[in-house]
Formats: sequence, structure tokens, C-alpha cells
Amino acid sequence: MSLSKRAKEVSPSATLQITATANRMVREGKDVIAFGAGEPDFDTPDVIKGAAIKAIQDGFTKYTPTSGIPELKEAISKKLKKDNRLDYPASSIIVSCGAKHSLYNVLQVLVEKGVEVLIPVPFWVSYPEMVKLAGGKAVFVRTSVKDDFKINPKTLEKYFTKKTKILILNSPSNPCGVVYRRDELEAIADFCVKHNIICISDEIYEKIIFDGIEHVSIASLSDRMKKLTVTVNGFSKSYSMTGWRLGYLAAEPEIVGAVSNLQDHSTSNPVSFAQKAALSAFTLGDDFFKNIAKKFQERRDVIISRLDKMKGRLGYKKPEGAFYIFCDISKTRMDSFTFAKRLLEERQVALIPGAPFGCDDYVRLSFATSMEKINKGFDRIEEWVAKL
Ligand SMILES: Cc1ncc(COP(=O)(O)O)c(C=O)c1O
Repeated sequence: MSLSKRAKEVSPSATLQITATANRMVREGKDVIAFGAGEPDFDTPDVIKGAAIKAIQDGFTKYTPTSGIPELKEAISKKLKKDNRLDYPASSIIVSCGAKHSLYNVLQVLVEKGVEVLIPVPFWVSYPEMVKLAGGKAVFVRTSVKDDFKINPKTLEKYFTKKTKILILNSPSNPCGVVYRRDELEAIADFCVKHNIICISDEIYEKIIFDGIEHVSIASLSDRMKKLTVTVNGFSKSYSMTGWRLGYLAAEPEIVGAVSNLQDHSTSNPVSFAQKAALSAFTLGDDFFKNIAKKFQERRDVIISRLDKMKGRLGYKKPEGAFYIFCDISKTRMDSFTFAKRLLEERQVALIPGAPFGCDDYVRLSFATSMEKINKGFDRIEEWVAKL
């Protein structure tokens, strides 16, 4: 048997691998502190669970339209208008099996051999693999801590070629919690408009944002930019619905039509009763998000104070959103996989190596875990790093 070239080229997900090792250690009875989680640690709200149960009991268990039930698409359309100042009719929205699926689909319909996709570094691990699967070339746009890990038109111009078609933007970002401000997005939008570049704007961490910073959707900046943008979002991180697999994209009719056709012949609709559940999520008000963001912010602040106590042995840039902190381990003179492996084996603390995010002298810690575990984990990290 021989696998396709395409399949052979895809790397396994490093985040899932390390989590699997940590889980195995837990099953073996080891006292592992896990900073690897890519999902919120709070339960899916009861109102959402209740709506799913009701939908199942009502027999809402059959196929739905591929792009999602009309009432959910209407609700998403209203949400985009209210939260993001984006005017997308329901017909410009496609609900998929997670934001990951939306991203995969849109790259499948836009990318082909020879197409270059700009990906700012550090990046979420799946972007380059998805570009590869679509037959395109991922072009990594280097950023620096000095620039807060942010791209700007000057940097982008350096990587732009005649083959550049797409830019993937992620704000708030995984892995370093970067949040782009309005003026920075305006400058990036100017670059996209100048070169006719499609911006895939991954806004999945939109609601987890700190210090009163405003989330701005790049598509809201001008009509021209809206035409060039594919806005991607979902329910996983905002509502702790990672297992329900529901995300969506909003874009121009031509793109939406192509994604719909692709989804018709691959997954069809996302789970019927999960869609009903997602509909009920919109009954949760702004206070719900404020509470969650507050909790994550408190944890971030504790982590920062613990890192500050370590006298610069691990560097960091203060995250402004999402629930990760990206730590500079260069002073330990270890690469990120060695660091993560040794810390797990020697102190039973699990975190994610930075190499799959494009930075081998960094590691990613998730603060989607309790304050108690954060403190216990940092006791171990502090003691271990001091002895290196
Ligand atoms: C930046 C980013 N985009 C998209 C996703 C995918 O989210 P979903 O669970 O909706 O597929 C993740 C999940 O970790 C993520 O970190």
C-alpha cells in the first residue's frame, strides 16, 4: 500500500501528541500538571446542553441544510452585526464542523499549486498543514518580540511576491495572545487592498480579551476590505464547546458558494442538535463573556507575577487575549521539544513545544486550568529552571 504524497507530507499535531503523553501519565497515576490544554476548562453552559437534549428529544436528529439551519445562520448574521459591525446576510454564512473545518474548507477552495499564503510567525500549528493539504506554499512572515510579535505592511512587503494570494491573520492569537489594534489592522488592510490579497481572519478567541482592549474585525474597516476578507469564528472557545464541533465563516457569495459545494460532498451539515444548541448560546449576554475573560485575566496575571519572580530565566510577552502565554526558553539553551520532554519527565509538568508554532526557542503554556494548578505547576517550573 502506498499513501498519497499529500498524506505523507502532513505532520501530526504536536499539541495533541503531548496532551496524549500527559494523559497517559495521568492514567498511570502520576501527578501531572497540564499546561497543554487548547480548550477552556469551564463546562459548556447548561442552557446550551439543555437545548441539545431538547433537540434530540424532539427528534431533531436528521440531515439539515449543508450550510447550517436557517435560524442559526440568521443568529450568526445578527451577532456579526452587533459584535463586529459586519453586515453579512445569512446566505453569506456557512456553518461547519468547527472553525478548523471552516479554515480547511476555505483554503481548499482558494489555494492551488503555486499559490503563496502569508502566515505570520508564531502561528497556530494547523495553518501551514492546511495550506500544504490544499497544494499551496506557506510563506512564513517573521515577527519579533520587539514588534510584539506583530506583522505590519513593511514586513509583509518583504515576503510579498506575484504568487501571494492570501494572508492568514489571527487576533487574538494562539500561541502568544497578540491582539491587533484598529490602526494596525488599517495598515494591514491597506496592504491587502493594494495587492488584492484575501485575508482569512481567524477570530476564534474574540471573546477572550483582556485589559479592556477592543476586538476589531478587519472586514469592518472598509467595503473593499470586507470583499477581500473571509471572517472565521466559532463556538469552541467562547462557549467552551470544543467537543461539539461548530464553527462558521462569512464571506463573499462566490467563496461561500464554493465552500458550500465542497461541504456538500465531504461532511454535509454539522451535527443537527449541536446547531440547535449553538442557537441557544446566543441567549447568553455580555456578562457571560466578561466573567470568563476576567477569570482568564486573573490567571494570566498570576502567571506573569510568577515569571517575574524567576528573574528573566524565562522571557515572555504579556498576552492580551486568548489563554496562552508564549515563553522564551533561549536562556536554558534547550530546544523546545527537549525542554517540554524533560519538564514532563522530570517534574510532571506538561506544556507545548514552540517549534510547531514556528519558534523553537519558545514553549506555550495554556492557562485554561485552575489557579491552584497554575501555582503548583509554577512551583515546579521555578525550582527546575533554577537548577538547570
Ligand atoms: C487559532 C485557532 N483557530 C482555530 C481553532 C479551531 O477551533 P475549532 O474548535 O472551532 O475547530 C483553534 C483551536 O485550537 C485555534 O487555536
